[in-house]
Amino acid sequence: MQEKEGKGQMTNSFIVHGGKKLKGTVQIDGAKNSAVALIPAAILAESQVSIDGLPDISDVHTLYRIIEELGGTVQEDKHTAVIDPSHLVAMPLPNGNVKKLRASYYLMGAMLGRFKKAVIGLPGGCYLGPRPIDQHIKGFVALGAEVTNEQGAIYLRAEKLTGARIYLDVVSVGATINIMLAAVKAEGKTVIENAAKEPEIIDVATLLNNMGANIKGAGTDTIRINGVEKLHGCKHTIIPDRIEAGTFMTLAAACGDGVTIQNIIPEHLEGITAKLHEMGVPIEFGEDSVYIGQAKNLKKVDIKTYSYPGFPTDLQQPLTALMMHAEGSSVITDTIYPDRFKHIAELERMGGRFKLDGRSAVITGPVSLKGASVKASDLRAGAALVIAALTAESETEITGIEHIERGYTNIIEKLSNIGADIEKVTTADVAAQ
Ligand code: EPU
Repeated sequence: MQEKEGKGQMTNSFIVHGGKKLKGTVQIDGAKNSAVALIPAAILAESQVSIDGLPDISDVHTLYRIIEELGGTVQEDKHTAVIDPSHLVAMPLPNGNVKKLRASYYLMGAMLGRFKKAVIGLPGGCYLGPRPIDQHIKGFVALGAEVTNEQGAIYLRAEKLTGARIYLDVVSVGATINIMLAAVKAEGKTVIENAAKEPEIIDVATLLNNMGANIKGAGTDTIRINGVEKLHGCKHTIIPDRIEAGTFMTLAAACGDGVTIQNIIPEHLEGITAKLHEMGVPIEFGEDSVYIGQAKNLKKVDIKTYSYPGFPTDLQQPLTALMMHAEGSSVITDTIYPDRFKHIAELERMGGRFKLDGRSAVITGPVSLKGASVKASDLRAGAALVIAALTAESETEITGIEHIERGYTNIIEKLSNIGADIEKVTTADVAAQ
């Protein structure tokens, strides 16, 4: 990493020289959206929980610090954490680290489940338009908790948690997992109907069951939980990150000349595979890997995001960067987050041709992109900018990279290893001097 020292505030950015054909092998890390739920889930155990394969990203490190603030210990190796929650205390967490990530909402379910009370600041994370948590709260209340919002923090208290039948009005990953966390030690039976079916939900249920919980049906739309009195420690290996894998598949389709992506579960990638296939991208699966051949004359495609197993909203932004290189007008519609289009204005600065129409973007291609100074507004917008920059002529500077580093492990190293010209630089902010 290049570092230019100076007075005042420092700005980190990625500098990308596009136009290189990428070739080689990329290793996928553990799933961010599992990791941010598995670590809070460990709070429910009464002895050590060891989780292997964790991604080395800032959201994970922030959660370790929160566990320590609560009196737990975390022995962290690069990809493994041994969490000892036995001495945890029900400390209120209205501010500080909890505000740094959206997934701090899992501390609500986990602490409620363990201590019958919690105070958690309203979560931060990527701004993708309004992101309500009413379904999480509906679940906690059904289990017997009193929930209030006082000065930007959620207060949860319960004399006793009792199993209940909870129908989710919206299919929500966060609410499904949070209700599982609060219900595993509740008295009696909980049924979550219209539950989300994402692989990360199965991963969290697997960890909880290995801790002694009794959860059935994770991965279907009805989850049944029989409450147990105590949970114990265990060892768990996290699933691979299907969104990181999908991002690299898209990137390889945009500027690869033979890229193999390893440590994947092919069944988790059906949505992205189907769409890349329609675009004419050569794809070959191995048992736990996928090879993306050089793609020529990309065809236009229309995409709508849905909850799993539909096309994931988290790959909508990366895909727009590829669609700019397809012949004709493609349409991408985000039914989950209709405001998740902040990357479009940045891609336009690089030469992309877009028309925003409500929750859809029309992308007309193919275009030749030129390097520009662009800013990542959120994690997956950042991934879209990296893909666009790798396919652009000349130099692109991407700021706002703290968003990218929240979700992609060692992205510079992984891209450099397959031939990309990308580096991280730190510069003194001129305005701050
Ligand atoms: N929703 C409600 N009420 C709720 C909860 C959700 O109306 O109480 C709505 C949301 O506004 C959204 C839809 O339901 O329109 C689905 O939201 P969901 O709750 O499933 O999202 P989430 O759990 O907050 C997770 C991922 C996101 C991913 C979404 C959708 C984590 C930590 N985050 O968020 O990941 O986009 O599911 O798949 O698991 C990312 O990785 O970049 C990311 C944003």
